[in-house]
Amino acid sequence: MSSLDTFARQKLADLDAAALRRTLRPTLRGANGRAWRDGQDLISFSCNDYLGLSNDPRVIAAAQEALATYGAGAGGSRLVTGNHPLLPALEARLARHKGMPAALVFGSGYLANLGITPALVGPRDLILADALSHSCLWAGARVSGAEVVRVRHNDLDDLRALLDRHRGRHRRALILTERVFSMDGDRAPLPALLEIAEAFDAWTLVDDAHGLGVVEAGCRAPLEMGTLSKSLGSYGGYLCAAQSVVDLLTSRARSLVYTTGLPPASAAAALKALEILEAEPARAARPLALARRFTARLGLPEAESAVVPVLVGAAEAALALSAALEARGFLVVAIRPPTVPAGTARLRVAVSAAHTEAQVDALADAVAELHPRR
Ligand SMILES: Cc1ncc(COP(=O)(O)O)c(C=O)c1O
Repeated sequence: MSSLDTFARQKLADLDAAALRRTLRPTLRGANGRAWRDGQDLISFSCNDYLGLSNDPRVIAAAQEALATYGAGAGGSRLVTGNHPLLPALEARLARHKGMPAALVFGSGYLANLGITPALVGPRDLILADALSHSCLWAGARVSGAEVVRVRHNDLDDLRALLDRHRGRHRRALILTERVFSMDGDRAPLPALLEIAEAFDAWTLVDDAHGLGVVEAGCRAPLEMGTLSKSLGSYGGYLCAAQSVVDLLTSRARSLVYTTGLPPASAAAALKALEILEAEPARAARPLALARRFTARLGLPEAESAVVPVLVGAAEAALALSAALEARGFLVVAIRPPTVPAGTARLRVAVSAAHTEAQVDALADAVAELHPRR
């Protein structure tokens, strides 16, 4: 056995012992929240397709037409030949939708976060990241070489104290947070946070991956990034910002410059989804309303977004609860460390406009029975 093989096997054994090994399970997804795994027909509460648009016939038709007309791939970096006209059209639409001056489309949300932060701050600078920031925000922060300080989750006093202590020693400062936190579903206190940021001349990057199309009202940060892969049902990422910032990142964001442009069909699907999202406000209002129905039925704190955590604690227990729900026809994947902090393994319930009230009630009743709160 090679040392590489020995290494991998030992690591896997460690993961198994802690119930933290992850495996890929083939899953088919369909309309109305349906999913199929291991031959079982399930209702999925684990998709980020919050508006049910990934299977909308209009979105599919837009992607199909772009695919047939323009081909499957972009053929190069956006700075070479991969900047299909659908991409600037999508950027204009995204900027308008978010009420921001300009936008820049990346290959994914992960790539956006990996590229934005290092293009704006470096070794002489300071990053203050909310403790529950998504992995790709941390990845961008680390790559930048800036000093990274962890801020207690949604704690404005901690943010102010850390800025007081560290800001003076650094050239530029960047705050990283999320409009809706991906694993907890709660929201950042943005108006007050932006005031503090301004007082310390710190820039703020808000990750809006789970807000767009679901929780939209409110203030805008100078840097608003997000993804096309959740409520827009497609694939890709974006940043909305001032034109100058977009122009700078077009030259300096390595995850834009040195990677292939988004395929035209993904851009066409996202464009169509944005159009539908704007034309159908009742659809956009549904995920939050259904999530609140779910939390009310279970006596949980009122949902702030389409994401509701059902905290379990131990990884094994979260896996067991997920398996028990799967046996009853619900797909609710267990989320374990390091995606969430140790001891907070959970089921992450993601509600979609495509779910029915009856499906949401049935899941709540199954959770209440299988996981009575102690
Ligand atoms: C908060 C947050 N930011 C960024 C991303 C990455 O987006 P994408 O899936 O487009 O890479 C995700 C998705 O997992 C997310 O939850």
